[in-house]
Amino acid sequence: MDLRLNGKVALVGASSTGLGKAVALALAEEGTDVIICSRDSDKLRLVSEEIQKKGTKCLAIPTDLTKYSQVQNLVTRSIEYFGKIDILVTNCGGPPSGEFLDFSVDDWKQAINLNLMSTIYLCKEILPYMVKQNDGRVIMITSVSVKQPIKGLILSNVTRAGVAGLAKSLSNEYGKNNILVNIVCPGYTRTERVEQLAVSLSAKQGLKPVEMIQNWAQLNSLGRLATPEEFANVVVFLASEKASHLTGTAIQIDGGLVKSLL
Ligand SMILES: NC(=O)c1ccc[n+]([C@@H]2O[C@H](COP(=O)([O-])OP(=O)(O)OC[C@H]3O[C@@H](n4cnc5c(N)ncnc54)[C@H](OP(=O)(O)O)[C@@H]3O)[C@@H](O)[C@H]2O)c1
Repeated sequence: MDLRLNGKVALVGASSTGLGKAVALALAEEGTDVIICSRDSDKLRLVSEEIQKKGTKCLAIPTDLTKYSQVQNLVTRSIEYFGKIDILVTNCGGPPSGEFLDFSVDDWKQAINLNLMSTIYLCKEILPYMVKQNDGRVIMITSVSVKQPIKGLILSNVTRAGVAGLAKSLSNEYGKNNILVNIVCPGYTRTERVEQLAVSLSAKQGLKPVEMIQNWAQLNSLGRLATPEEFANVVVFLASEKASHLTGTAIQIDGGLVKSLL
């Protein structure tokens, strides 16, 4: 299948590791030029080298996505370099785990900045260019918590619901401009973050990290965690010309973790 992503330009948020990095590499594999960003310039340089080995261009811009002025700089420099952004994949770090009374008002503000405001900043800066082009794809990385709140992750459950509301509203408002907006909802996916989480939580629960991962795997129907590449393949499809009548949806890549009908 020719996905017709060759020559497109994608900006991928939080792409120095994990899901964002896997998406950036998978898009580059299809011939898309990629803008990558996160706070750590050393990690970004290594990812940029990996992407360029695939024969596409890569612009790496260190950015704290919770800071609006830094997002403005990211988009201005990207447009100066490439002249357009066809695909926006929003992503940022995950908030800490815990229950409602564990968190202060400042913790809530930080989580909202991390997951909701970073997404709003990116859309606010990039949508005007997509409107001018009369073309664009926005894919927002959230979590299965959008479909089924996860115990012990209240900050994620609440802030990502806001992202889902944003995605659906934008898909309604900008369909007329040929801008398609969808969200993708990862279940447990084997990134460095999940490996580290297994180490820290297993100590608290008196388990080995490998047992912790096995327990997570048993939560879904396939009995194993996704790889970042399996997750990225779905994002690449949504970004492609083959997904031309798909907007306003939320697709979980969770091996069947969510137990509701839809
Ligand atoms: N992996 C899973 O199983 C899973 C499941 C559901 C949801 N999610 C969510 O999906 C997202 C990505 O997950 P992941 O597993 O890939 O996490 P990860 O491996 O921890 O990667 C997080 C990325 O976010 C960047 N980042 C963090 N804070 C940032 C900020 N303020 N500004 C810019 N970049 C920032 C990090 O880079 P720097 O440190 O260089 O800034 C890194 O590239 C997270 O929100 C996570 O909660 C993951």
